[in-house]
Amino acid sequence: MSSAITPDLLPLTAETGPAGLAVGRVPLTELARRFGTPLFVYDEEHLRQRCREAVAAFGRDSVAYASKAFLCTAMARLVHEEGLLLDVASGGELRVALHGGAPADRIVLHGNNKSDRELRTAVSAGVRHIVVDSFDEMDRIERLHWESGLPPVRVRLRVAPGVAAGAHEAIRTGGSDSKFGFGLAGGVASAAVRRTVSSPAMILDGVHAHVGSQVLRTAELAAGAAAVARFACEAGVRGLTVGGGLGVAYEAGQTVPSFADWAAGVRAAVRGAGWSGGLTVEPGRSIAARAGLTLYRVGTIKRIEGVRTYVGVDGGMSDNPRPALYDGRYEAFLPRCPEAERPLRARLVGKHCESGDVLIDDAALPADLRVSDLLATPVTGAYGYAMASNYNKLPRPAVVFVRDGRARVVVRRETEEDLLRLDADLPPDADAFPAAGTVAAER
Ligand code: LLP
Repeated sequence: MSSAITPDLLPLTAETGPAGLAVGRVPLTELARRFGTPLFVYDEEHLRQRCREAVAAFGRDSVAYASKAFLCTAMARLVHEEGLLLDVASGGELRVALHGGAPADRIVLHGNNKSDRELRTAVSAGVRHIVVDSFDEMDRIERLHWESGLPPVRVRLRVAPGVAAGAHEAIRTGGSDSKFGFGLAGGVASAAVRRTVSSPAMILDGVHAHVGSQVLRTAELAAGAAAVARFACEAGVRGLTVGGGLGVAYEAGQTVPSFADWAAGVRAAVRGAGWSGGLTVEPGRSIAARAGLTLYRVGTIKRIEGVRTYVGVDGGMSDNPRPALYDGRYEAFLPRCPEAERPLRARLVGKHCESGDVLIDDAALPADLRVSDLLATPVTGAYGYAMASNYNKLPRPAVVFVRDGRARVVVRRETEEDLLRLDADLPPDADAFPAAGTVAAER
């Protein structure tokens, strides 16, 4: 693999001009100059296009963007404008979704261990429904109903269908040995249905399952959908959500199903299982991944004779932990020469204090790569910024959206001042702990 980066790994509006690769008609070299590196760049047109394709395939009100893949105020606004619902998995994601202008009735709340506070906020705001994950959560919803006078809430029950799929153990969720949901096995999910129906605090709205993530074969997504659809028929519920999971190509040569393929596969599967009602999906990665890329500056090139070459950039596992966590694989190219052959093999590493800080184990790069070059890793729009950390006290990168020749910062770069924002540098005898009651009330 020494050929140039292939267009199917780049955002839709990517094109090569005199200044190298441009996205949204803005050269990447110019973005790096203006906004610094590391930098997350999103093609706004690509994001919108993916939202539209998903809605075209599944129908309006049938697509909830899984905001965990990438969320900020601008992204929440964008997906809402494109007619998608938003799936949030914490009070924090709920807050950002609302802040981005998504009305509560366009938002669904997930989570295997929702706090009282998250439940209270969601029910008071009037979310579309809550995906209930456990009997303990039902206890909490009922207690809040009795104690705080919250109205009954619409719920979908998260089911563990006994079908797991996905590119890595850590992102396979639908099996019976899972922290998520009520098992279909042993009648647990049926008991959850009975409990919901008899509860004055909950209105049973449907069932839900998510089998896993980065799934490249629709047959696996369809198998999970069929299992949960059979259960939905038995339970006599109104709604069915079959989760997200559609994979994306991270490297040349990977083929991925389209939204239309996914829709055809799961529709056929749920029909075959006897389900004739509506269907909701929750794509995250497949909306955001290819729309985004990360720009880094090359700072060091170390050649170890007879061993390998290391190329060090100014970010690393703090802005992309996926290689370390899931053996995630990426490609790289130089925005100044996107059409160049890439015969040089090197390990692309970050600047963190550990050897596991690898972005690409065996990257293909142009032969004339040099220190101070701008380097890009495409397909980093999902679970990159979303999972970014301050490891080694690196400030998190900025995020820019580009469109029609214009770039706008949607998340500003963290500063070193931001790194001190939460530190409470109190003298040793100061009472650093709030009273116990305050902590309890905050739960
Ligand atoms: N719905 C539920 C209930 C989920 O748990 C997830 C992902 C999705 C939808 C969206 O799945 P997607 O369409 O993005 O595959 N950090 C990992 C991925 C974790 C996915 C967790 N749940 C990664 O970087 O690969």
